[in-house]
Amino acid sequence: SLMRELKGIDVMEMELKHRLGIRNVIIVPGDSDLSPLAKKEMGRATVKGMRQLLAGKNIIAVTGGSTMAAVAEEMKPGIYNDELMFVPARGGIGEDVQNQANTICAIMAANTKSRHRVFYVPDQVSIEIYESFIKEPLVHEVLALIKSAGMVLHGIGDAITMAERRKAVPEDMRKIVEHDAVAEAFGYYFNEQGEIIHKVLTIGLQLDDLKEIPNVLAVAGGSSKAKAIRSYLKQAPPQTILITDEGAAKLLLKSG
Ligand code: BG6
Repeated sequence: SLMRELKGIDVMEMELKHRLGIRNVIIVPGDSDLSPLAKKEMGRATVKGMRQLLAGKNIIAVTGGSTMAAVAEEMKPGIYNDELMFVPARGGIGEDVQNQANTICAIMAANTKSRHRVFYVPDQVSIEIYESFIKEPLVHEVLALIKSAGMVLHGIGDAITMAERRKAVPEDMRKIVEHDAVAEAFGYYFNEQGEIIHKVLTIGLQLDDLKEIPNVLAVAGGSSKAKAIRSYLKQAPPQTILITDEGAAKLLLKSG
């Protein structure tokens, strides 16, 4: 559109894609830290991007978060001709209900008139719980679905914000601060170089699984997330498509 041309958004997208070394970058106008409209726009852009990528039957694994909740809001029936099934990428109990992947998958399914699965396992588990849970047939079944997903929709968070939101135990919090974590995704914490400095034991999608999934859409914006986005994308699989806003994109282009 004319607005995009005037703002040079297309140029920014190309430049960022090149710098980050990922499949594509989509930038929406605004800064979601300042305006809820920008988050809504990211939601819209994600839905549009999904439409261009989906073909045939698809299992779509989805993480939680307020950005994913905004994506769910923009989905409508009839926009996908395909048979879709939304599955939480991992257990999300511990977050606010509206931010949980279970809730978001249910809304996505209702809005697109498709199916979803629930995954009622905690976000963080002890090794004992982990070992007994993964033996459960229902958990097994959902894990198999996640691994066969054709698409992943996920958020990226600021490390400290996410550690606080998930009520990390003091020991983990210390580790996250001491190792200068700046980003969080899928329960992994990363420093500015994109190295994993901490990982929460979660049931569900692991970073290694992500490499095998053909379509990966990372949705994160707001100037406060620029550092987190840069860090996470240093080790994200190359098929990742970033959907972000101008607020984050401008900072991402400034340095690094
Ligand atoms: C979480 C994802 O639920 O959402 C995280 O599992 C991500 O990996 C976070 O960091 C982002 O949340 P928000 O509210 O900033 O979109």
